[in-house]
Amino acid sequence: MSPAVPGVPIEVHDLTVAYHHRPVLWDIDLQFPEGKLIAVVGPNGAGKSTLIKAIMGLVPLASGHVKIYGKPAEEGRASVAYVPQRGSVDWDFPTNALDVVLMGRYGHLPLFGRPRRRDKEIARQSLEKVGMLEFANRQISQLSGGQQQRVFLARALTQQARVYLMDEPFAGVDASTERAIVTLLHDLREQGGTLVVVHHDLQTVPQYFDHVLLLNLRTVAFGPVAEVFTAQNLQKTYGGQLGVLTEVGERLRNTDWSRRRG
Ligand SMILES: Nc1ncnc2c1ncn2[C@@H]1O[C@H](COP(=O)(O)OP(=O)(O)OP(=O)(O)O)[C@@H](O)[C@H]1O
Ligand SMILES: [Mg+2]
Repeated sequence: MSPAVPGVPIEVHDLTVAYHHRPVLWDIDLQFPEGKLIAVVGPNGAGKSTLIKAIMGLVPLASGHVKIYGKPAEEGRASVAYVPQRGSVDWDFPTNALDVVLMGRYGHLPLFGRPRRRDKEIARQSLEKVGMLEFANRQISQLSGGQQQRVFLARALTQQARVYLMDEPFAGVDASTERAIVTLLHDLREQGGTLVVVHHDLQTVPQYFDHVLLLNLRTVAFGPVAEVFTAQNLQKTYGGQLGVLTEVGERLRNTDWSRRRG
């Protein structure tokens, strides 16, 4: 991790994004706090992936701007690692797990430079951290969905970034992979990292995360989970889809907030 200069990792100002003139994010204004594990939650099509892509500069902004550690996003992005939503990646690309992970080191190489021994070492360590070292030479198309997800996390780890943006890292993984990912996220936070994670499982939000952004085209609510992850805000975010929410409401009532850190 780069030397820690405290600050605001990500500021989003008056952000509007439209596809074919139809806004999918409207006037988003927020600051992600440093050293926190932050969930981004909302229904399908709410604009969660688009928000992450907007921060990464992967979609044009209709208005507004993003700052990373106080700098214009283009300058600050070297401190950000991005794990895309799995469906958005071409897994038939003929390359092995280690090479995918090594791509995470490109930002650290000199111009036109090739990965050095140290980069390969870091890549192998990252594969080990996610329990995938034995698959280092396997073609990525021949890995299971959960294994591919772990390889993508390993790639983000090799960047040794201060900020991680992860789009649904828990989608379609089994219980043991989920536990491995949670441990990894908590480790990165302990090291001072800031993690913004798109998350679909409402039930685990209070257990895994410090802060939550409830998003549906606009910001419905943003803040510490204990304050903003309420049945009322969930209702505003998900509208009529109450079926999902009843059980979550039950969980919320049974959560002992006093045992959680801010
Ligand atoms: N490249 C694109 N061109 C046109 N419309 C798009 C494009 N990408 C996304 N959209 C639309 O923008 C809206 C927001 O999409 P986005 O992928 O950000 O949603 P999401 O919250 O990540 O949803 P999910 O939970 O399904 O991943 C959706 O209505 C989607 O159909
Ligand atoms: Mg998405």
